[in-house]
Amino acid sequence: MSIARRSLPALAVAGCTALQPARAQPAASLRDLAHARGLTFGSAIRHDLLRTDAGYAALMAREAEVLVPEWAAKWSVLQPREGEFDFSVLQEILAFAARNRQRVRGHTLLWHESLPAWLPPALAEGPARAGAVMETHIRTVLEATRPSIRDWDVLNEVVANPPGSDNPSPIPGDLRTSPWLRALGPDYIDRAFRIARQVDPTLRLTLNDYGVEADNPAAAEKRARLLRLVRGMIQRRVPLDAIGIQAHLQMREPFRAEPLVAWLQELRGMGLALAVTELDVREPDVLAPSVALRDAAVADRTAQFLEAAIAGGVRTILTWGLSDRDSWLRLEPSVARPDGAQTRGLPFDTDLRPKPMREAMARVFRG
Ligand code: XIL
Repeated sequence: MSIARRSLPALAVAGCTALQPARAQPAASLRDLAHARGLTFGSAIRHDLLRTDAGYAALMAREAEVLVPEWAAKWSVLQPREGEFDFSVLQEILAFAARNRQRVRGHTLLWHESLPAWLPPALAEGPARAGAVMETHIRTVLEATRPSIRDWDVLNEVVANPPGSDNPSPIPGDLRTSPWLRALGPDYIDRAFRIARQVDPTLRLTLNDYGVEADNPAAAEKRARLLRLVRGMIQRRVPLDAIGIQAHLQMREPFRAEPLVAWLQELRGMGLALAVTELDVREPDVLAPSVALRDAAVADRTAQFLEAAIAGGVRTILTWGLSDRDSWLRLEPSVARPDGAQTRGLPFDTDLRPKPMREAMARVFRG
Protein backbone atom coordinates (compact mmCIF):
# COMPACT_ATOMS: atom_id res chain seq x y z
CA MET A 1 0.00 0.00 0.00
CA SER A 2 1.48 3.36 -0.93
CA ILE A 3 2.24 6.31 1.32
CA ALA A 4 -0.28 8.32 -0.68
CA ARG A 5 -3.10 6.36 0.82
CA ARG A 6 -2.09 7.03 4.39
CA SER A 7 -1.71 10.74 3.80
CA LEU A 8 -5.16 11.11 2.27
CA PRO A 9 -7.34 12.65 4.98
CA ALA A 10 -5.33 15.90 5.33
CA LEU A 11 -8.11 17.94 3.82
CA ALA A 12 -9.15 20.73 6.13
CA VAL A 13 -7.45 23.72 4.53
CA ALA A 14 -7.77 26.81 6.69
CA GLY A 15 -7.22 30.37 5.58
CA CYS A 16 -7.01 29.70 1.84
CA THR A 17 -8.46 32.24 -0.51
CA ALA A 18 -10.78 30.95 -3.20
CA LEU A 19 -9.64 31.42 -6.80
CA GLN A 20 -11.04 34.31 -8.77
CA PRO A 21 -12.13 33.64 -12.36
CA ALA A 22 -9.76 35.07 -14.93
CA ARG A 23 -12.46 36.22 -17.36
CA ALA A 24 -15.58 38.27 -16.98
CA GLN A 25 -18.40 35.94 -15.98
CA PRO A 26 -22.11 36.50 -15.39
CA ALA A 27 -22.99 38.06 -12.05
CA ALA A 28 -24.40 34.94 -10.42
CA SER A 29 -22.64 31.58 -10.65
CA LEU A 30 -24.53 28.42 -11.60
CA ARG A 31 -23.53 27.14 -8.19
CA ASP A 32 -25.34 29.99 -6.42
CA LEU A 33 -28.33 30.01 -8.75
CA ALA A 34 -28.89 26.28 -8.27
CA HIS A 35 -28.38 26.55 -4.54
CA ALA A 36 -30.98 29.31 -4.21
CA ARG A 37 -33.49 26.95 -5.84
CA GLY A 38 -32.66 24.03 -3.51
CA LEU A 39 -30.61 22.35 -6.25
CA THR A 40 -26.96 21.43 -6.46
CA PHE A 41 -24.86 22.15 -9.53
CA GLY A 42 -21.46 20.69 -10.27
CA SER A 43 -19.10 19.35 -12.92
CA ALA A 44 -16.60 16.67 -13.77
CA ILE A 45 -13.05 17.90 -13.24
CA ARG A 46 -9.63 16.95 -14.59
CA HIS A 47 -6.59 17.11 -12.34
CA ASP A 48 -4.20 17.67 -15.27
CA LEU A 49 -5.96 20.92 -16.16
CA LEU A 50 -6.17 22.03 -12.53
CA ARG A 51 -2.40 21.84 -12.41
CA THR A 52 -1.72 23.79 -15.55
CA ASP A 53 -4.59 26.15 -16.30
CA ALA A 54 -5.51 28.91 -13.87
CA GLY A 55 -8.53 29.99 -15.93
CA TYR A 56 -9.91 26.45 -15.82
CA ALA A 57 -9.35 26.20 -12.08
CA ALA A 58 -11.03 29.56 -11.48
CA LEU A 59 -14.07 28.58 -13.54
CA MET A 60 -14.43 25.29 -11.65
CA ALA A 61 -14.08 27.10 -8.34
CA ARG A 62 -16.69 29.66 -9.26
CA GLU A 63 -19.36 27.62 -11.02
CA ALA A 64 -19.42 24.22 -9.31
CA GLU A 65 -20.57 23.22 -5.85
CA VAL A 66 -19.79 19.55 -6.47
CA LEU A 67 -16.81 18.13 -8.35
CA VAL A 68 -16.57 14.66 -9.86
CA PRO A 69 -13.14 13.40 -10.88
CA GLU A 70 -13.38 12.66 -14.60
CA TRP A 71 -10.54 10.11 -14.32
CA ALA A 72 -8.95 10.35 -10.87
CA ALA A 73 -11.21 7.94 -8.98
CA LYS A 74 -11.43 5.22 -11.62
CA TRP A 75 -9.91 1.84 -10.95
CA SER A 76 -6.90 2.22 -13.27
CA VAL A 77 -5.81 5.34 -11.38
CA LEU A 78 -6.54 4.16 -7.82
CA GLN A 79 -5.17 0.60 -8.11
CA PRO A 80 -2.92 0.49 -11.19
CA ARG A 81 -1.15 -2.62 -9.90
CA GLU A 82 -2.71 -5.18 -7.62
CA GLY A 83 -2.50 -4.11 -3.98
CA GLU A 84 -0.79 -0.78 -4.82
CA PHE A 85 -3.30 1.93 -4.13
CA ASP A 86 -2.44 5.46 -5.19
CA PHE A 87 -4.69 8.31 -4.05
CA SER A 88 -2.26 11.10 -4.87
CA VAL A 89 -4.07 12.37 -7.97
CA LEU A 90 -7.48 12.18 -6.36
CA GLN A 91 -6.03 14.04 -3.41
CA GLU A 92 -5.19 17.02 -5.62
CA ILE A 93 -8.87 17.32 -6.49
CA LEU A 94 -9.92 16.86 -2.86
CA ALA A 95 -7.54 19.61 -1.75
CA PHE A 96 -8.81 21.96 -4.45
CA ALA A 97 -12.41 21.25 -3.45
CA ALA A 98 -11.63 21.90 0.21
CA ARG A 99 -10.05 25.25 -0.65
CA ASN A 100 -13.13 26.26 -2.58
CA ARG A 101 -15.73 24.84 -0.20
CA GLN A 102 -16.88 22.23 -2.69
CA ARG A 103 -17.97 18.62 -2.24
CA VAL A 104 -16.56 15.72 -4.25
CA ARG A 105 -18.52 12.75 -5.62
CA GLY A 106 -16.78 9.45 -6.19
CA HIS A 107 -16.87 7.96 -9.69
CA THR A 108 -16.67 4.98 -9.86
CA LEU A 109 -16.02 1.88 -7.75
CA LEU A 110 -16.95 -0.71 -10.40
CA TRP A 111 -17.14 -0.27 -14.17
CA HIS A 112 -16.39 -2.39 -17.21
CA GLU A 113 -13.98 0.27 -18.52
CA SER A 114 -10.85 1.87 -17.10
CA LEU A 115 -9.64 -1.51 -15.88
CA PRO A 116 -5.88 -1.77 -15.29
CA ALA A 117 -4.11 -4.51 -17.28
CA TRP A 118 -3.85 -6.85 -14.30
CA LEU A 119 -7.55 -6.86 -13.51
CA PRO A 120 -9.34 -8.76 -16.33
CA PRO A 121 -7.02 -11.80 -16.01
CA ALA A 122 -7.48 -11.75 -12.22
CA LEU A 123 -11.26 -11.70 -12.62
CA ALA A 124 -11.07 -14.56 -15.12
CA GLU A 125 -9.36 -16.77 -12.52
CA GLY A 126 -12.73 -17.58 -10.98
CA PRO A 127 -15.40 -16.29 -8.62
CA ALA A 128 -13.42 -16.65 -5.39
CA ARG A 129 -10.55 -14.55 -6.69
CA ALA A 130 -12.85 -12.05 -8.43
CA GLY A 131 -14.93 -11.60 -5.27
CA ALA A 132 -11.83 -10.99 -3.18
CA VAL A 133 -10.44 -8.45 -5.66
CA MET A 134 -13.76 -6.60 -5.75
CA GLU A 135 -14.09 -6.51 -1.99
CA THR A 136 -10.52 -5.31 -1.41
CA HIS A 137 -10.92 -2.45 -3.86
CA ILE A 138 -14.24 -1.25 -2.46
CA ARG A 139 -13.06 -1.50 1.14
CA THR A 140 -9.72 0.18 0.61
CA VAL A 141 -11.11 3.02 -1.47
CA LEU A 142 -14.07 3.73 0.80
CA GLU A 143 -11.98 3.61 3.95
CA ALA A 144 -9.46 6.03 2.46
CA THR A 145 -12.00 8.50 1.07
CA ARG A 146 -14.48 8.33 3.93
CA PRO A 147 -13.58 11.74 5.42
CA SER A 148 -13.95 13.54 2.12
CA ILE A 149 -16.33 11.75 -0.27
CA ARG A 150 -19.87 11.08 0.91
CA ASP A 151 -21.46 9.97 -2.38
CA TRP A 152 -20.03 7.25 -4.65
CA ASP A 153 -21.10 5.68 -7.89
CA VAL A 154 -20.82 2.13 -6.62
CA LEU A 155 -21.64 0.75 -10.05
CA ASN A 156 -21.49 2.41 -13.44
CA GLU A 157 -23.29 1.27 -16.60
CA VAL A 158 -24.46 -2.19 -15.56
CA VAL A 159 -27.66 -2.27 -17.65
CA ALA A 160 -27.35 -3.85 -21.11
CA ASN A 161 -28.06 -1.67 -24.15
CA PRO A 162 -31.29 -2.78 -25.87
CA PRO A 163 -31.65 -3.34 -29.63
CA GLY A 164 -31.66 -0.01 -31.46
CA SER A 165 -29.06 1.57 -29.12
CA ASP A 166 -25.75 2.91 -30.42
CA ASN A 167 -23.93 -0.16 -29.07
CA PRO A 168 -26.60 -2.82 -28.59
CA SER A 169 -25.77 -5.75 -26.37
CA PRO A 170 -24.87 -8.82 -28.47
CA ILE A 171 -26.89 -11.12 -26.21
CA PRO A 172 -30.32 -10.81 -24.61
CA GLY A 173 -30.73 -10.01 -20.91
CA ASP A 174 -31.08 -6.91 -18.76
CA LEU A 175 -27.47 -6.81 -17.54
CA ARG A 176 -24.34 -5.83 -19.43
CA THR A 177 -21.97 -8.76 -20.00
CA SER A 178 -19.05 -7.07 -18.23
CA PRO A 179 -16.00 -8.86 -16.82
CA TRP A 180 -17.72 -8.52 -13.43
CA LEU A 181 -20.87 -10.28 -14.60
CA ARG A 182 -18.85 -13.02 -16.29
CA ALA A 183 -16.76 -13.60 -13.18
CA LEU A 184 -19.39 -13.34 -10.46
CA GLY A 185 -22.82 -13.66 -12.06
CA PRO A 186 -25.64 -11.13 -11.59
CA ASP A 187 -25.22 -11.24 -7.83
CA TYR A 188 -22.10 -9.02 -8.08
CA ILE A 189 -24.37 -5.98 -8.10
CA ASP A 190 -26.00 -6.72 -4.76
CA ARG A 191 -22.67 -7.76 -3.28
CA ALA A 192 -20.93 -4.53 -4.25
CA PHE A 193 -23.64 -2.40 -2.64
CA ARG A 194 -23.72 -4.54 0.52
CA ILE A 195 -19.95 -4.28 0.95
CA ALA A 196 -20.10 -0.51 0.46
CA ARG A 197 -22.84 -0.13 3.07
CA GLN A 198 -20.96 -2.31 5.49
CA VAL A 199 -17.74 -0.32 5.14
CA ASP A 200 -19.42 3.08 5.41
CA PRO A 201 -23.01 2.96 6.69
CA THR A 202 -23.79 6.65 6.02
CA LEU A 203 -22.31 6.91 2.53
CA ARG A 204 -24.78 7.69 -0.29
CA LEU A 205 -24.67 4.68 -2.61
CA THR A 206 -25.50 5.46 -6.24
CA LEU A 207 -26.21 3.33 -9.29
CA ASN A 208 -25.21 5.32 -12.38
CA ASP A 209 -26.25 4.64 -15.98
CA TYR A 210 -26.92 6.19 -19.39
CA GLY A 211 -29.17 5.92 -22.42
CA VAL A 212 -32.46 6.47 -20.55
CA GLU A 213 -33.25 10.05 -21.56
CA ALA A 214 -34.56 9.96 -25.15
CA ASP A 215 -38.08 9.37 -26.43
CA ASN A 216 -37.35 6.28 -28.53
CA PRO A 217 -37.88 2.51 -28.10
CA ALA A 218 -34.28 1.77 -27.08
CA ALA A 219 -34.32 4.34 -24.27
CA ALA A 220 -37.79 3.21 -23.16
CA GLU A 221 -36.52 -0.37 -22.92
CA LYS A 222 -33.42 0.76 -21.05
CA ARG A 223 -35.60 2.64 -18.57
CA ALA A 224 -37.66 -0.54 -18.12
CA ARG A 225 -34.52 -2.61 -17.59
CA LEU A 226 -33.14 -0.24 -15.02
CA LEU A 227 -36.44 -0.13 -13.21
CA ARG A 228 -36.59 -3.95 -13.09
CA LEU A 229 -33.08 -4.06 -11.69
CA VAL A 230 -33.83 -1.45 -9.04
CA ARG A 231 -37.12 -3.08 -8.03
CA GLY A 232 -35.35 -6.39 -7.56
CA MET A 233 -32.62 -4.77 -5.49
CA ILE A 234 -35.15 -3.10 -3.24
CA GLN A 235 -37.09 -6.35 -2.83
CA ARG A 236 -33.84 -8.06 -1.85
CA ARG A 237 -33.16 -5.22 0.59
CA VAL A 238 -29.95 -4.20 -1.14
CA PRO A 239 -28.75 -0.84 0.19
CA LEU A 240 -29.27 1.61 -2.66
CA ASP A 241 -29.77 5.34 -2.08
CA ALA A 242 -29.65 7.11 -5.42
CA ILE A 243 -29.86 6.73 -9.19
CA GLY A 244 -27.46 8.68 -11.38
CA ILE A 245 -28.70 9.57 -14.85
CA GLN A 246 -25.66 10.37 -16.95
CA ALA A 247 -27.56 12.44 -19.53
CA HIS A 248 -25.16 12.41 -22.44
CA LEU A 249 -27.98 13.81 -24.53
CA GLN A 250 -28.15 13.19 -28.28
CA MET A 251 -30.02 15.70 -30.38
CA ARG A 252 -30.55 13.28 -33.22
CA GLU A 253 -32.88 11.38 -30.85
CA PRO A 254 -36.32 12.82 -30.12
CA PHE A 255 -37.05 14.11 -26.63
CA ARG A 256 -40.32 14.37 -24.77
CA ALA A 257 -40.67 15.19 -21.08
CA GLU A 258 -43.62 12.94 -20.16
CA PRO A 259 -42.05 9.46 -20.33
CA LEU A 260 -38.89 10.64 -18.57
CA VAL A 261 -40.80 12.44 -15.81
CA ALA A 262 -43.05 9.41 -15.20
CA TRP A 263 -40.04 7.11 -14.96
CA LEU A 264 -38.16 9.43 -12.61
CA GLN A 265 -41.21 9.79 -10.41
CA GLU A 266 -41.48 6.03 -10.20
CA LEU A 267 -37.91 5.87 -8.92
CA ARG A 268 -38.59 8.70 -6.49
CA GLY A 269 -41.61 6.77 -5.27
CA MET A 270 -39.25 3.96 -4.29
CA GLY A 271 -37.47 6.37 -1.97
CA LEU A 272 -34.43 6.95 -4.17
CA ALA A 273 -32.62 10.25 -4.64
CA LEU A 274 -32.04 11.26 -8.27
CA ALA A 275 -29.07 13.03 -9.83
CA VAL A 276 -28.12 14.06 -13.34
CA THR A 277 -24.48 13.12 -13.25
CA GLU A 278 -22.79 13.74 -16.64
CA LEU A 279 -24.86 16.18 -18.69
CA ASP A 280 -23.64 17.20 -22.12
CA VAL A 281 -25.26 17.45 -25.54
CA ARG A 282 -24.24 15.71 -28.75
CA GLU A 283 -25.41 17.70 -31.76
CA PRO A 284 -27.09 16.12 -34.79
CA ASP A 285 -25.12 14.62 -37.67
CA VAL A 286 -26.00 17.56 -39.90
CA LEU A 287 -25.21 20.82 -38.13
CA ALA A 288 -27.23 24.02 -38.45
CA PRO A 289 -25.49 26.59 -40.68
CA SER A 290 -24.42 29.01 -37.92
CA VAL A 291 -22.95 28.78 -34.45
CA ALA A 292 -25.82 30.91 -33.15
CA LEU A 293 -28.41 28.44 -34.44
CA ARG A 294 -26.46 25.47 -33.12
CA ASP A 295 -26.09 27.04 -29.70
CA ALA A 296 -29.76 27.94 -29.55
CA ALA A 297 -30.73 24.33 -30.30
CA VAL A 298 -28.35 22.94 -27.67
CA ALA A 299 -29.65 25.44 -25.12
CA ASP A 300 -33.22 24.56 -25.93
CA ARG A 301 -32.67 20.82 -25.56
CA THR A 302 -30.80 21.39 -22.29
CA ALA A 303 -33.65 23.46 -20.87
CA GLN A 304 -36.30 20.92 -21.92
CA PHE A 305 -34.33 18.10 -20.40
CA LEU A 306 -33.55 19.91 -17.14
CA GLU A 307 -37.15 21.04 -16.65
CA ALA A 308 -38.23 17.41 -17.03
CA ALA A 309 -35.49 16.12 -14.75
CA ILE A 310 -36.41 18.60 -12.02
CA ALA A 311 -40.12 17.85 -12.44
CA GLY A 312 -39.24 14.17 -12.00
CA GLY A 313 -37.45 14.85 -8.72
CA VAL A 314 -33.79 15.39 -9.70
CA ARG A 315 -32.07 17.70 -7.24
CA THR A 316 -28.43 17.42 -8.31
CA ILE A 317 -27.26 18.44 -11.77
CA LEU A 318 -23.70 17.85 -12.89
CA THR A 319 -22.22 18.47 -16.33
CA TRP A 320 -19.38 16.37 -17.75
CA GLY A 321 -16.94 19.26 -17.76
CA LEU A 322 -17.71 22.95 -18.21
CA SER A 323 -16.14 23.96 -21.49
CA ASP A 324 -16.19 22.66 -25.07
CA ARG A 325 -12.41 22.92 -25.08
CA ASP A 326 -12.05 20.09 -22.56
CA SER A 327 -15.06 17.95 -23.39
CA TRP A 328 -14.71 14.22 -23.96
CA LEU A 329 -17.08 14.86 -26.89
CA ARG A 330 -14.11 16.49 -28.58
CA LEU A 331 -11.22 14.44 -27.17
CA GLU A 332 -12.52 10.87 -27.05
CA PRO A 333 -12.47 9.14 -30.47
CA SER A 334 -15.44 6.89 -29.67
CA VAL A 335 -17.77 9.89 -29.30
CA ALA A 336 -16.04 12.63 -31.31
CA ARG A 337 -17.84 13.92 -34.40
CA PRO A 338 -16.81 12.10 -37.57
CA ASP A 339 -16.88 15.41 -39.48
CA GLY A 340 -14.29 16.89 -37.13
CA ALA A 341 -16.46 19.92 -36.29
CA GLN A 342 -15.87 21.54 -32.92
CA THR A 343 -18.51 20.24 -30.48
CA ARG A 344 -20.62 22.77 -28.60
CA GLY A 345 -22.29 20.55 -26.00
CA LEU A 346 -21.19 22.20 -22.73
CA PRO A 347 -22.08 25.54 -21.09
CA PHE A 348 -18.80 27.35 -21.84
CA ASP A 349 -16.95 27.71 -25.15
CA THR A 350 -13.33 26.94 -25.98
CA ASP A 351 -12.27 30.30 -24.52
CA LEU A 352 -14.21 29.55 -21.32
CA ARG A 353 -16.84 32.14 -22.22
CA PRO A 354 -20.47 31.43 -21.27
CA LYS A 355 -22.73 30.18 -24.06
CA PRO A 356 -26.51 30.06 -24.52
CA MET A 357 -26.47 26.61 -22.88
CA ARG A 358 -25.27 28.26 -19.70
CA GLU A 359 -27.96 30.94 -19.97
CA ALA A 360 -30.56 28.20 -20.39
CA MET A 361 -29.30 26.42 -17.29
CA ALA A 362 -29.33 29.66 -15.32
CA ARG A 363 -32.91 30.30 -16.43
CA VAL A 364 -34.00 26.83 -15.35
CA PHE A 365 -32.25 27.21 -12.02
CA ARG A 366 -33.90 30.58 -11.47
CA GLY A 367 -37.25 28.83 -11.99
C1 XIL B 1 -14.94 9.24 -19.91
C2 XIL B 1 -13.94 10.37 -19.85
O1 XIL B 1 -14.58 11.59 -20.05
C3 XIL B 1 -12.90 10.13 -20.90
O2 XIL B 1 -11.91 11.14 -20.84
C4 XIL B 1 -12.28 8.77 -20.68
O3 XIL B 1 -11.37 8.50 -21.68
C5 XIL B 1 -13.36 7.69 -20.71
O4 XIL B 1 -14.31 8.00 -19.74
N1 XIL B 1 -19.65 7.68 -18.92
C6 XIL B 1 -18.93 7.69 -17.74
C7 XIL B 1 -17.66 8.42 -17.66
O5 XIL B 1 -19.42 7.19 -16.72
O6 XIL B 1 -16.76 7.83 -16.76
C8 XIL B 1 -17.01 8.54 -19.02
O7 XIL B 1 -15.89 9.38 -18.89
C9 XIL B 1 -17.99 9.10 -20.02
C10 XIL B 1 -19.18 8.19 -20.16
